[in-house]
Amino acid sequence: MLPRTPLHRWLAVAFFLLLAAWFHPTFSGGFTEPGVPYSSNGVDDLSYVKKLLKDNKVGPQIEYASRTIRYVPDARERKSITEIDQELFPTAFKNITISKESVLPAGKIVDLHIKQSPRPDQVDVSDMLFAASTTYGRFTDPKTSPIEEWKRWLTDGAGQSNGAGLILALFDTTDENIARAAKTLEDIGINATVVPSNKELDMAGRYVDLVQMMYNHPTRPNRKYFVLIDDDTFFPVISNFRKTLSRYNPDKPYYIGTFTERADWLIRNRAPFAYGGGGIVLTAPSAKQIVEAPCLEKNKETGKYVLDSDQGDRLLYNCLQAHSSLTLTYLPSLHQHDQFGDPAGIYESGDLFHSLHHFKSWHRANPAMTHVVADACGEECVFQRFQFKDDFIISNGFSVAHYPKGIDFDPLQMEETFNWGQHDAAEAGAEVVFSYYFGSLRKSLLKTGRKQSWEILGARKEGDGRVKQVYLKRWSDDRWYADGVTPKVEDDPRDSVVVLTWIP
Ligand SMILES: *[C@@H]1O[C@H](CO)[C@@H](O)[C@H](O)[C@H]1NC(C)=O
Ligand SMILES: *[C@@H]1O[C@H](CO)[C@@H](O)[C@H](O)[C@H]1NC(C)=O
Repeated sequence: MLPRTPLHRWLAVAFFLLLAAWFHPTFSGGFTEPGVPYSSNGVDDLSYVKKLLKDNKVGPQIEYASRTIRYVPDARERKSITEIDQELFPTAFKNITISKESVLPAGKIVDLHIKQSPRPDQVDVSDMLFAASTTYGRFTDPKTSPIEEWKRWLTDGAGQSNGAGLILALFDTTDENIARAAKTLEDIGINATVVPSNKELDMAGRYVDLVQMMYNHPTRPNRKYFVLIDDDTFFPVISNFRKTLSRYNPDKPYYIGTFTERADWLIRNRAPFAYGGGGIVLTAPSAKQIVEAPCLEKNKETGKYVLDSDQGDRLLYNCLQAHSSLTLTYLPSLHQHDQFGDPAGIYESGDLFHSLHHFKSWHRANPAMTHVVADACGEECVFQRFQFKDDFIISNGFSVAHYPKGIDFDPLQMEETFNWGQHDAAEAGAEVVFSYYFGSLRKSLLKTGRKQSWEILGARKEGDGRVKQVYLKRWSDDRWYADGVTPKVEDDPRDSVVVLTWIP
C-alpha cells in the first residue's frame, strides 16, 4: 500500500534521520544487524591481531575463539560479578593458521549491562596535583618507565591533559635530561612540571620534600587534592577516585591513605601511617602544616633525621605525629599491593581499585593495557567481571578464565594465587597475613586443571567507543595443568587466543 502522506513530509523525515545520523555517529550503529561480525568490515582489524601475535611469537597455528560484546550502560550499580544467561563461546574454539586467514570469525553479539562511567576523554580532574620522585634512568628504562601508565590516567588517552597536574622530581640528573623528560611529557599531553630534586636529601627526604613542591606550585589555588605517588602507582578509575575524595573537605587538613595488605608488616611497623605506594592524599591545610614543620631537621652529631626513618612515607608520618594533631584517614580502596607471585586472584576479584602498585616489580601486570577498555565501556568497567553459562569469567582487561569442572566456588572470595615472596618464606603463619585486608581467601586453582586462563596480550581502541582485546593462553604454561604436567611437544599443542571486541 502506498503511503498517503505528502511527499514533503517523507522528505522531512528522511532529512531528519540523515541529520540524526550525521550528528550522532553511533546512532547508525543501530542499523547494523546483531550477529554481523564487525571485523568483516574492518580490514586492519585482523592485521592488528596478526601483528600482535607475531610480535609475541604466537602461532601461526593457534586455537581461536572470539566474541563481540555490546555494552549497555543502563545498570544502576557496578557489580563485582554479573551472571549472563548465555554462553561466552557458543561456537567452540577452532584450530586455525592465522597467517592464512583473511577474516576471522567474530562471533555473535552479546549484550552486557554496565553502569555508565566516564571514559578517559570525559574525565576532568584539574583540581588534583600529583607528585613523584624518581631517577632519569627509571623514567626512561622501558622496564620501569611509567609513561604508558601515565598516559592512561593523566591524559584523555588521545594526547590531551585531563587537567591533572604532575610534579616530577628527578634525582641527580643533568639539565638536558630534565628538559628531555619535560618534552616527553608535554608531547604526550601530560601537564607536568619537571624539576631536579634536592641533592642534599636522601630518598626519604626527597619524598617528604615533594610536599613542599606541591604546596609552592603556582597552580595551588586551583587544586583541592595533593597526591604523593611512587613512580609505579596507577589510578585505574581516576574520576571515581576524585568523586570519593569529595567526602573530604579540601579546606580542612587531611592525611588520607592505605596500609600494607600484610598484617605482619603492619604489626611490625607499629604505626598507623599511610603506605606511599598506594598514594597519599593531602589537602592544602595539611600540606601547609608539613611545610611549616621541621620534618627534615637533622641531628648534628649523627647526621640522621631527628625523626629518623629511611622510608619517605614513614618519615612523613613521624613528622605529622611530632608536629601536628593529624591522624590517618584510612581509604582501603587505595592499594599498596605488597604481595608477590601470580597476582591473578587480586585482579580477578572484581574490585574497584582506586590505585595499583608494584606491578612491574613484586608482581607482573600491565594495567595500561588492561585500562584500554575504559575507552569503550568507561573506567568503572575495568576489572569488572562477567560470568557466562559455559563457565567462563571475564575479568575485564585482565583475563578470560575457564573453569572446565564448573564454578563450584564462591567468586566473591578472592583466589589466593599470590604469595608473600621468597625472602620472607620462613615467617610462620604467613598464609593468613593478607586476610585482614582481602577478607577470607579461597584456595588457589593453579596447577589443579580446574582453571585455565587467557591473559591480556594487547588491546586497541578501534573507533568511537570500540575496543578490541586479545587474550592469550600459552600451551606451555604449567599453571593450567594438574600437577604442572604440560602436554608433550609431539602432540603438537597450540597456543590459544581469545579476541573480545567491545562495541557501543
Ligand atoms: C597546565 O596547567 C596550567 C595550570 O592549570 C595551565 O595554565 C597550562 O595551560 C597547562 N598546560 C597545558 C599544556 O595544558
Ligand atoms: C586443535 O589441534 C590440537 C592439536 O594441535 C588438538 O589437540 C585439538 O583437539 C584441536 N582442536 C580442535 C577444536 O580441532
